[in-house]
Amino acid sequence: MAAGLVGIGRYIPEKIVTNADLEKIMDTSDEWIRTRTGIEERHIAGDDQDTSDLAFFAAEAAMKDAGITADQIGMILVNTVTPDKPFPSVACMIQERLGAKNAAAMDQSAACAGYMYGLITAKHFVEAGTYDYVLVVGVEKLSKITDWSDRNTAVLFGDGACAGIVGNVSEGRGILAFDLGADGSGGKYLYQDEADHIIMNGREVFKFAVRQMGESALKVIEKAGYTKEDVDFLIPHQANIRIIESARKRLDLPEDKVAKVISKYGNTSAASIGNAMVESVENGKIKDDDLIVLVGFGGGLTWGAIAMRYGK
Ligand code: UT7
Repeated sequence: MAAGLVGIGRYIPEKIVTNADLEKIMDTSDEWIRTRTGIEERHIAGDDQDTSDLAFFAAEAAMKDAGITADQIGMILVNTVTPDKPFPSVACMIQERLGAKNAAAMDQSAACAGYMYGLITAKHFVEAGTYDYVLVVGVEKLSKITDWSDRNTAVLFGDGACAGIVGNVSEGRGILAFDLGADGSGGKYLYQDEADHIIMNGREVFKFAVRQMGESALKVIEKAGYTKEDVDFLIPHQANIRIIESARKRLDLPEDKVAKVISKYGNTSAASIGNAMVESVENGKIKDDDLIVLVGFGGGLTWGAIAMRYGK
């Protein structure tokens, strides 16, 4: 048996902040944001919602999709750089709220590559036979660490949560290959400062992203025993439409074989790839037995890619 996703879900907060809304509070323009990033609007969590609330709703949706109950979950892995507090972990908070009384629980931190790190950790526990089901959540309330006076970063981010249940899937399906990596020397390009704000050297992160996304995606395709012609659908981290386009071109894929949801959500970091996956399944772009590639990069610097045969 191989490990794969047996259920997926997401939660996106209701409140929408458009580029026009941002024009009113900082020196920016809808035109600049659209052309430089591809973002048109983003969702922002309410003051009464913290990261664990978003995580809980996404987890519930994924459990429902998988058709499992909370007591069947052996482990909860929450990936976030914006936990409610340093401890207890968001994973422990949702463990209680879900009633997942048999689950070990911990948070992981790999920024925008977090969901990839979580899925691969889960895969090993499932394949080893340790747990039948591992709940993986990618969640951020980035709005609470956004410097709303810094136009270089404030226009980019959004809040949201995604979740996946990793379990045993049928022969030929599931996670076929992965590539995880890190380069701590690039930590200075994207971090949270003493004032708890996101600081980013956009150009350096951009260069890293363009190089790493292509390399990592091609690596997992080859590791899985395929070539780029075999790929049915690509889900790149939704950070910038120009970075997504460069990954698409590197894999020679047509427009309709790449997830592009950034215009509606902005960059939701750890929630980005899982959110794009749920949307792509919902609108019929990903079907059972499709060969899909997920690829992300983020603060750390970190990266991660997965080649997967979709379906239970
Ligand atoms: O999840 C991982 C996190 N981060 C990323 O993936 C980000 C990767 N980097 C990027 O997406 C891009 O570098 C940005 C979108 C952040 C910036 O785009 P860019 O094409 O690299 O622009 P730039 O930083 O070179 O800035 C160009 C100009 C500057 O003006 P001057 O110095 O040329 O006069 C900026 O001050 O654009 C200005 N600018 C803005 N103007 C209007 C920067 N932000 C804004 C803004 N509105 N929001």
